[in-house]
Amino acid sequence: MQPSKPHLETRAVHAGMEGVIESGSHVPTIDLSTTNPLPSVELGGDSYENLATGGTLEPGQSAVYQRLWQPGVARFETALANLEGSETAVAFATGMAALAACLLASVTAGKPHVVALRPLYGGTDHVLDNGLMGTTVTWVHSVDEIAAAIQPDTGLVVIETPANPTLELVNIAKAVAGAGDVPVLVDNTFATPVLQRPIEHGATLVLHSATKYIGGHGDVMGGVIATNEEWAPRLRHVRALTGGLLHAFAAYLLHRGLRTMPLRVRAQQETATALAERLNGHPALARVLFPTLPGCDPEGLIGTQSEGPGSMLSLDLAGGYDAATKFIESLKLVSHAVSLGGIDTLAQHPASLTHRPVATEAKPGGGIVRISIGLEHIDDIYEDIIQALEA
Ligand SMILES: Cc1ncc(COP(=O)(O)O)c(C=O)c1O
Repeated sequence: MQPSKPHLETRAVHAGMEGVIESGSHVPTIDLSTTNPLPSVELGGDSYENLATGGTLEPGQSAVYQRLWQPGVARFETALANLEGSETAVAFATGMAALAACLLASVTAGKPHVVALRPLYGGTDHVLDNGLMGTTVTWVHSVDEIAAAIQPDTGLVVIETPANPTLELVNIAKAVAGAGDVPVLVDNTFATPVLQRPIEHGATLVLHSATKYIGGHGDVMGGVIATNEEWAPRLRHVRALTGGLLHAFAAYLLHRGLRTMPLRVRAQQETATALAERLNGHPALARVLFPTLPGCDPEGLIGTQSEGPGSMLSLDLAGGYDAATKFIESLKLVSHAVSLGGIDTLAQHPASLTHRPVATEAKPGGGIVRISIGLEHIDDIYEDIIQALEA
């Protein structure tokens, strides 16, 4: 018997698996077809028109061509939408391709202006600041400034919470209220739907770099937007015509990763929380940036907006840039590498790497080191961090 209201863990395991058991398999088949047989000229044309303009595969129609429709991608989208509580989802080759599709969809609808709350992931900041997608931007630094920044041609409000790399929390409901009729895009990469579901707080678009916690093992790239039935066809339209589709094998790996995501996210969060407490007050650190530490969550958003702080932790070294460099280069167990959300702990220096293109006035401090806490034993990560701090 099916449970009446399956919990998130159960949905993570089973969502998007429709028809698999009935087909005689235990896991979905990876369909690598780049093209698909067309039953007739008329049906081929109808299918093409539907899919190339943002439709979904209709019963009896052909998938036509992989750039237009891929069954494993659709399965992953179903699963992700289920966890985010959104009507649907649209997956892309990377998180940046997903963001670019939202920006292009807005620009082509005649709404090129974006209101964006700093700090954001450096790549997001970069693409908004240089207007590569044809957007213009007004930067704000608090949700209270959003309403005043809205213009008649504003198409999107972009926020990220916890924010990258300071782990500041943004009140999503307040951002939505400030945005009025303008849709709010929330980058939910750090929190994942295990801890935070922005749709519940009024967001219209939820972005993930699926490369991170969803994949979870540092071996697959992807991006996805959880959204409603109004936005999804516009995003699929952009995807079909600009070619940013997720690859079939990547979709398989992301769907597989999503099934264990609740376990990984909670275990990594437990370690990160305990580490933040152990490290807080260390004389080599000016600050430990982590949402559950005193003063880091003034609005009490942990427990109301999100179920927990996640497992990203930033250390602000008292000795600034030079101390941060020495610290990172002294780590032995923890790898010095960009990216996050995988099973192994990674450390990187945002000011010189992920946030390098960010304008000087908005660049993170030179002493900040961002650490993505993995699944190693806490004592081993702690020992490595302490020896690197003492170096
Ligand atoms: C918070 C956040 N959003 C978006 C992206 C972009 O995703 P991708 O690298 O998959 O294009 C990243 C990548 O680091 C990220 O950390």
